Amino acid sequence: MKIVLIGYMGSGKSTVGNLLAKKLNLAFIDLDQAIEEQEKISVLEIFEKHGEIFFRRKETEVLKRLLAEKEDRVLATGGGTPCYGHNMEQIEKSAAKSIYLKLSIQALVDRIRHEKAERPLVSTLADEDFPEFIGKHLFERTPFYERADEVVFCDGKTSEEIVDEILLSL
Ligand code: S3P
Repeated sequence: MKIVLIGYMGSGKSTVGNLLAKKLNLAFIDLDQAIEEQEKISVLEIFEKHGEIFFRRKETEVLKRLLAEKEDRVLATGGGTPCYGHNMEQIEKSAAKSIYLKLSIQALVDRIRHEKAERPLVSTLADEDFPEFIGKHLFERTPFYERADEVVFCDGKTSEEIVDEILLSL
């Protein structure tokens, strides 16, 4: 594994990861998609049918498997991936460079608001509770995200600009 992108839901890990992989001529892997392929069921359905603990177990399992593979690739993790079990330790121990795509609470709220339905952790939240939830949740997760090798501030930047910044840091 060459690069692991981490960051909160809606931070652009998949979009930036795809573009970055193309520029580096590497394959792109989305961890959620890899879990869906292994389990043959969507992440939303995993949460609904089996619950979050089951999802976290699968997430750790697939992350471990992908990190152990020798091919150089760009991996976009899920928003919670670095924050559970020993996942962040596994990422740190691997040969990959980890990059945190950092956004402000407001920018995240603006992005996720429209995609609530597809996101099991926020799908049942009322609109008025949304900013407070994101604020608290991001606060809890930030210590894990900040362990990344690089932090890229993404507010107001296009995916192309973010990719260029990442390329300069490699
Ligand atoms: C999650 C984020 C999601 C997905 C799952 C849980 C989280 O991934 O893994 O719904 O805990 O933040 P994205 O960050 O790609 O949306």
